[in-house]
Amino acid sequence: MQSRSARLAGTARDPVHHPVFARYYARASVAAETRLGMAAVRGRLLTGLSGRVVEVGAGNGLNFAHYPGAVSEIVAIEPERALRALALEAALRADVPVDVAPGTAEALPVKSGAFDAAVLCLVLCSVRDVARALAEVRRVLRPGGEVRFFEHGRGGGRVMHFTQRTLDRTVWPPLAGGCHVARDAVGALREAGFVLGPYRRLMMPENGPALPQSYCVLGTAWRPAGDDPAGGG
Ligand SMILES: C[S@@+](CC[C@H](N)C(=O)[O-])C[C@H]1O[C@@H](n2cnc3c(N)ncnc32)[C@H](O)[C@@H]1O
Repeated sequence: MQSRSARLAGTARDPVHHPVFARYYARASVAAETRLGMAAVRGRLLTGLSGRVVEVGAGNGLNFAHYPGAVSEIVAIEPERALRALALEAALRADVPVDVAPGTAEALPVKSGAFDAAVLCLVLCSVRDVARALAEVRRVLRPGGEVRFFEHGRGGGRVMHFTQRTLDRTVWPPLAGGCHVARDAVGALREAGFVLGPYRRLMMPENGPALPQSYCVLGTAWRPAGDDPAGGG
């Protein structure tokens, strides 16, 4: 068994350490699969993918069961150790080969240009540096490679915007594992140099009350085909 000091040394080195949120998310995310229709959203997010895929901030690995058989390999990066342990279990049950690895979106521990697709699912809300994370996604995709994203963020009218910004400046990130509710995933992808494909806005839950975290977007973007293969910028 690991000693207490070894455990503490380990957690001190973890770039993302949200043990309470991780325990909550592990339960709530499984319930959301059926109650909020998340399983269907994950299916839509991943449909038609093929080749080598990097999934950034894979959490407890709930996407793994939804990858099509044409995907040859998934490298799933997850910095939070409790969620990563659950992702490892999910990887063992998956029909496609999944490698789960520690790391952060801001410094993906994988080679440049190595992936046909990158999956961002409810993760841009939580990374520390969105621009840096997206520069990394651009780096690791091959030119012409695809980003599939499902993110929540800014939405609603003025009152909702105000509420979202206030939450982001106060209680939300510390309570929700670093999550923010007022980010703009589509704008950030565009600013990072991706070519936006089709995307659609949706509410989660679809027919429930509009909560600050309800405003979602599901879509596709590409690393430009003529992008310098050596870098992301
Ligand atoms: C709301 S959860 C979503 C998990 C999973 N993608 C899903 O669809 O259920 C946010 C995830 O982002 C991860 N995360 C937080 N900061 C991160 C970072 N800097 N780089 C990569 N992942 C990060 C968290 O550990 C957590 O797994």
